[in-house]
Amino acid sequence: MKNDSERALEALLSSGWLQAAYWSPEVDSTNSWARRDLNQVALPALFVADRQTAGRGRSQNQWWSPAGCLMLTLVVPASEAPLSPEQQPLLALQVGIAVAETVEHIVEPNLRGGLAHVQLKWPNDVYCAGKKLSGVLIETARKSSGDGAWLVGIGVNLNVDFALAPSDVRAKATSLLEQTGAEIDQPSALVELIENLQSQIESWRDDLPWLDRWSDRCMLAGKVVHLRTPSGEIVGRCEGVDSTGKLLVRDDLQLHEVLSGEILKWH
Ligand code: BTN
Repeated sequence: MKNDSERALEALLSSGWLQAAYWSPEVDSTNSWARRDLNQVALPALFVADRQTAGRGRSQNQWWSPAGCLMLTLVVPASEAPLSPEQQPLLALQVGIAVAETVEHIVEPNLRGGLAHVQLKWPNDVYCAGKKLSGVLIETARKSSGDGAWLVGIGVNLNVDFALAPSDVRAKATSLLEQTGAEIDQPSALVELIENLQSQIESWRDDLPWLDRWSDRCMLAGKVVHLRTPSGEIVGRCEGVDSTGKLLVRDDLQLHEVLSGEILKWH
Protein backbone atom coordinates (compact mmCIF):
# COMPACT_ATOMS: atom_id res chain seq x y z
CA MET A 1 0.00 0.00 0.00
CA LYS A 2 1.23 3.45 -0.88
CA ASN A 3 1.67 6.05 1.81
CA ASP A 4 0.74 9.74 1.55
CA SER A 5 4.27 10.80 0.59
CA GLU A 6 4.40 8.32 -2.30
CA ARG A 7 0.96 9.46 -3.47
CA ALA A 8 2.09 13.11 -3.39
CA LEU A 9 5.14 12.33 -5.55
CA GLU A 10 2.98 10.33 -7.96
CA ALA A 11 0.53 13.19 -8.29
CA LEU A 12 3.38 15.60 -9.01
CA LEU A 13 4.99 13.31 -11.58
CA SER A 14 1.67 12.72 -13.33
CA SER A 15 1.33 16.42 -14.15
CA GLY A 16 4.26 15.98 -16.56
CA TRP A 17 6.56 18.85 -15.51
CA LEU A 18 8.68 17.02 -12.95
CA GLN A 19 10.70 14.20 -14.50
CA ALA A 20 11.91 12.54 -11.28
CA ALA A 21 10.98 12.72 -7.59
CA TYR A 22 12.41 11.06 -4.48
CA TRP A 23 11.52 11.14 -0.78
CA SER A 24 13.94 9.90 1.90
CA PRO A 25 13.41 9.56 5.68
CA GLU A 26 16.86 11.08 6.34
CA VAL A 27 19.74 12.59 4.35
CA ASP A 28 22.63 14.92 5.12
CA SER A 29 21.21 17.77 3.03
CA THR A 30 18.76 17.59 0.12
CA ASN A 31 20.96 20.05 -1.82
CA SER A 32 23.99 17.77 -1.34
CA TRP A 33 21.89 14.70 -2.27
CA ALA A 34 20.65 16.41 -5.46
CA ARG A 35 24.21 17.43 -6.39
CA ARG A 36 25.51 13.85 -5.90
CA ASP A 37 22.73 12.38 -8.08
CA LEU A 38 22.64 15.14 -10.70
CA ASN A 39 24.04 13.01 -13.53
CA GLN A 40 21.63 10.13 -12.89
CA VAL A 41 18.33 12.02 -12.99
CA ALA A 42 16.15 13.63 -15.63
CA LEU A 43 15.28 17.28 -14.86
CA PRO A 44 13.36 19.01 -13.35
CA ALA A 45 13.83 16.69 -10.39
CA LEU A 46 12.67 16.83 -6.78
CA PHE A 47 14.45 15.55 -3.66
CA VAL A 48 12.50 15.60 -0.36
CA ALA A 49 13.62 14.48 3.10
CA ASP A 50 11.86 14.11 6.46
CA ARG A 51 15.06 14.98 8.35
CA GLN A 52 18.50 16.34 7.49
CA THR A 53 21.62 15.64 9.52
CA ALA A 54 23.63 18.47 7.93
CA GLY A 55 21.06 20.97 6.62
CA ARG A 56 22.73 24.01 5.12
CA GLY A 57 21.61 27.65 5.06
CA ARG A 58 22.85 30.77 3.27
CA SER A 59 26.13 32.42 4.34
CA GLN A 60 27.59 29.12 5.65
CA ASN A 61 24.85 28.88 8.31
CA GLN A 62 23.32 25.58 9.42
CA TRP A 63 19.62 24.88 8.94
CA TRP A 64 17.97 23.20 11.92
CA SER A 65 16.21 20.27 10.22
CA PRO A 66 13.90 18.28 12.51
CA ALA A 67 10.85 16.25 11.52
CA GLY A 68 7.96 18.62 10.83
CA CYS A 69 10.04 20.86 8.59
CA LEU A 70 9.29 20.42 4.89
CA MET A 71 12.73 20.14 3.28
CA LEU A 72 13.31 19.79 -0.41
CA THR A 73 15.54 20.58 -3.33
CA LEU A 74 14.06 21.25 -6.73
CA VAL A 75 16.62 20.91 -9.52
CA VAL A 76 15.79 23.30 -12.33
CA PRO A 77 17.57 22.79 -15.67
CA ALA A 78 19.06 25.68 -17.64
CA SER A 79 16.42 25.05 -20.32
CA GLU A 80 13.79 26.49 -17.90
CA ALA A 81 15.74 29.72 -17.37
CA PRO A 82 15.38 33.08 -19.13
CA LEU A 83 17.89 33.62 -21.93
CA SER A 84 19.10 36.97 -20.62
CA PRO A 85 21.81 36.58 -17.92
CA GLU A 86 20.55 39.76 -16.12
CA GLN A 87 17.22 38.05 -15.43
CA GLN A 88 18.72 34.90 -13.97
CA PRO A 89 19.27 36.21 -10.40
CA LEU A 90 15.52 36.88 -10.24
CA LEU A 91 14.97 33.17 -9.62
CA ALA A 92 15.66 33.84 -5.92
CA LEU A 93 12.85 36.39 -5.65
CA GLN A 94 10.41 34.32 -7.73
CA VAL A 95 10.96 31.35 -5.40
CA GLY A 96 10.23 33.61 -2.41
CA ILE A 97 6.87 34.61 -3.92
CA ALA A 98 5.93 30.95 -4.51
CA VAL A 99 6.78 29.97 -0.94
CA ALA A 100 5.02 32.96 0.67
CA GLU A 101 1.84 32.52 -1.39
CA THR A 102 1.77 28.77 -0.70
CA VAL A 103 2.19 29.25 3.03
CA GLU A 104 -0.54 31.87 3.19
CA HIS A 105 -2.94 29.68 1.21
CA ILE A 106 -2.22 26.57 3.29
CA VAL A 107 -3.02 28.22 6.58
CA GLU A 108 -6.18 30.02 5.51
CA PRO A 109 -8.58 27.24 6.59
CA ASN A 110 -6.68 26.74 9.87
CA LEU A 111 -6.56 30.30 11.11
CA ARG A 112 -6.78 30.71 14.82
CA GLY A 113 -7.56 34.39 15.31
CA GLY A 114 -5.92 35.31 11.98
CA LEU A 115 -2.35 34.80 10.84
CA ALA A 116 -0.21 37.90 10.58
CA HIS A 117 0.67 38.89 7.02
CA VAL A 118 3.27 36.56 5.49
CA GLN A 119 6.23 38.72 4.50
CA LEU A 120 9.44 38.42 2.48
CA LYS A 121 12.84 39.46 3.73
CA TRP A 122 15.11 40.06 0.76
CA PRO A 123 15.94 38.01 -1.14
CA ASN A 124 13.57 35.18 -0.14
CA ASP A 125 13.25 34.47 3.58
CA VAL A 126 9.59 34.09 4.53
CA TYR A 127 8.55 35.71 7.81
CA CYS A 128 5.43 35.70 9.90
CA ALA A 129 4.85 37.74 13.06
CA GLY A 130 8.50 38.87 12.95
CA LYS A 131 9.91 35.33 12.91
CA LYS A 132 11.32 33.16 10.14
CA LEU A 133 9.05 30.50 8.66
CA SER A 134 11.07 29.47 5.65
CA GLY A 135 14.53 29.82 4.09
CA VAL A 136 15.84 29.19 0.60
CA LEU A 137 19.33 28.17 -0.50
CA ILE A 138 19.94 28.36 -4.25
CA GLU A 139 23.13 26.84 -5.64
CA THR A 140 24.35 26.23 -9.18
CA ALA A 141 25.60 22.92 -10.55
CA ARG A 142 26.68 21.43 -13.86
CA LYS A 143 26.01 17.97 -15.29
CA SER A 144 28.96 16.12 -16.81
CA SER A 145 27.29 16.83 -20.19
CA GLY A 146 28.03 20.52 -19.51
CA ASP A 147 24.36 21.46 -18.98
CA GLY A 148 23.83 23.84 -16.06
CA ALA A 149 21.19 23.58 -13.35
CA TRP A 150 19.94 25.40 -10.26
CA LEU A 151 19.53 23.55 -6.98
CA VAL A 152 16.64 25.31 -5.25
CA GLY A 153 16.74 24.17 -1.61
CA ILE A 154 13.74 25.13 0.52
CA GLY A 155 12.96 24.54 4.19
CA VAL A 156 9.47 25.43 5.47
CA ASN A 157 8.69 25.11 9.18
CA LEU A 158 5.29 23.45 8.92
CA ASN A 159 4.79 21.37 12.09
CA VAL A 160 8.03 22.18 13.88
CA ASP A 161 7.96 22.29 17.66
CA PHE A 162 10.77 24.61 18.74
CA ALA A 163 10.86 23.35 22.34
CA LEU A 164 13.96 21.27 21.53
CA ALA A 165 15.57 23.82 19.22
CA PRO A 166 18.84 25.59 20.03
CA SER A 167 18.03 28.87 21.78
CA ASP A 168 19.20 31.09 18.90
CA VAL A 169 16.86 29.22 16.52
CA ARG A 170 13.98 29.38 19.01
CA ALA A 171 14.38 33.15 19.32
CA LYS A 172 14.25 33.79 15.58
CA ALA A 173 12.09 31.07 14.01
CA THR A 174 8.46 30.06 14.00
CA SER A 175 6.30 27.37 12.38
CA LEU A 176 2.82 27.23 10.95
CA LEU A 177 1.89 24.90 13.81
CA GLU A 178 3.03 27.54 16.30
CA GLN A 179 1.20 30.31 14.45
CA THR A 180 -2.10 28.54 13.83
CA GLY A 181 -2.30 25.72 16.40
CA ALA A 182 -3.14 23.31 13.55
CA GLU A 183 -1.09 20.44 12.11
CA ILE A 184 -0.41 20.95 8.42
CA ASP A 185 -0.62 17.98 6.04
CA GLN A 186 2.93 17.77 4.73
CA PRO A 187 2.33 15.85 1.44
CA SER A 188 -0.49 18.22 0.39
CA ALA A 189 1.68 21.23 1.27
CA LEU A 190 4.45 19.78 -0.89
CA VAL A 191 2.13 19.34 -3.90
CA GLU A 192 0.87 22.90 -3.63
CA LEU A 193 4.36 24.33 -3.20
CA ILE A 194 5.75 22.52 -6.26
CA GLU A 195 2.78 23.61 -8.40
CA ASN A 196 3.36 27.23 -7.35
CA LEU A 197 7.10 26.92 -7.94
CA GLN A 198 6.47 25.59 -11.44
CA SER A 199 4.26 28.54 -12.20
CA GLN A 200 6.77 31.10 -10.81
CA ILE A 201 9.63 29.46 -12.69
CA GLU A 202 7.60 29.77 -15.91
CA SER A 203 7.02 33.47 -15.08
CA TRP A 204 10.76 33.87 -14.54
CA ARG A 205 11.54 32.26 -17.92
CA ASP A 206 8.86 34.30 -19.74
CA ASP A 207 9.74 37.58 -17.97
CA LEU A 208 6.21 38.11 -16.62
CA PRO A 209 5.48 40.84 -14.03
CA TRP A 210 6.43 39.88 -10.45
CA LEU A 211 7.60 43.06 -8.68
CA ASP A 212 4.23 44.17 -7.23
CA ARG A 213 3.60 40.75 -5.69
CA TRP A 214 7.06 40.76 -4.11
CA SER A 215 6.85 44.39 -2.96
CA ASP A 216 3.45 43.87 -1.29
CA ARG A 217 5.23 41.51 1.11
CA CYS A 218 8.52 43.41 1.50
CA MET A 219 9.32 43.26 5.22
CA LEU A 220 12.27 45.67 5.13
CA ALA A 221 10.71 48.57 3.21
CA GLY A 222 11.01 51.74 5.30
CA LYS A 223 13.24 50.06 7.90
CA VAL A 224 16.87 50.82 8.69
CA VAL A 225 18.94 47.84 7.60
CA HIS A 226 22.54 46.81 8.28
CA LEU A 227 23.91 44.59 5.57
CA ARG A 228 27.18 43.01 4.55
CA THR A 229 27.90 43.13 0.82
CA PRO A 230 30.93 41.99 -1.21
CA SER A 231 32.06 45.65 -1.27
CA GLY A 232 31.60 46.37 2.46
CA GLU A 233 28.94 47.07 5.09
CA ILE A 234 26.02 49.39 4.43
CA VAL A 235 23.62 50.97 6.91
CA GLY A 236 20.66 52.85 5.50
CA ARG A 237 16.92 52.99 5.00
CA CYS A 238 15.47 50.32 2.73
CA GLU A 239 13.44 51.58 -0.24
CA GLY A 240 12.33 48.12 -1.39
CA VAL A 241 13.59 46.21 -4.41
CA ASP A 242 13.85 47.22 -8.07
CA SER A 243 12.79 45.36 -11.19
CA THR A 244 16.20 43.66 -11.44
CA GLY A 245 15.81 42.22 -7.93
CA LYS A 246 18.33 44.53 -6.27
CA LEU A 247 17.70 45.77 -2.74
CA LEU A 248 17.58 49.58 -2.58
CA VAL A 249 19.18 51.11 0.51
CA ARG A 250 19.69 54.85 0.97
CA ASP A 251 22.30 56.24 3.35
CA ASP A 252 23.33 59.89 3.83
CA LEU A 253 25.48 59.82 0.70
CA GLN A 254 23.75 57.72 -1.94
CA LEU A 255 21.22 55.10 -2.99
CA HIS A 256 22.89 51.67 -2.94
CA GLU A 257 21.56 49.07 -5.39
CA VAL A 258 22.57 45.79 -3.78
CA LEU A 259 22.74 42.65 -5.92
CA SER A 260 23.99 40.30 -3.19
CA GLY A 261 24.52 40.61 0.52
CA GLU A 262 23.54 39.42 3.96
CA ILE A 263 21.09 41.35 6.12
CA LEU A 264 22.71 41.54 9.55
CA LYS A 265 19.94 43.39 11.40
CA TRP A 266 17.03 45.75 10.87
CA HIS A 267 14.80 48.04 12.93
C1 BTN B 1 18.56 29.99 4.85
O1 BTN B 1 17.58 30.60 5.24
O2 BTN B 1 19.70 30.25 5.28
C2 BTN B 1 18.37 28.91 3.82
C3 BTN B 1 17.90 27.64 4.43
C4 BTN B 1 17.66 26.56 3.39
C5 BTN B 1 17.32 25.25 4.04
C6 BTN B 1 16.93 24.21 3.02
S1 BTN B 1 16.29 22.76 3.77
C7 BTN B 1 16.36 21.92 2.26
C8 BTN B 1 17.62 22.34 1.56
N1 BTN B 1 18.74 21.51 1.98
C9 BTN B 1 19.64 22.18 2.68
O3 BTN B 1 20.68 21.69 3.18
N2 BTN B 1 19.28 23.46 2.79
C10 BTN B 1 18.03 23.73 2.10
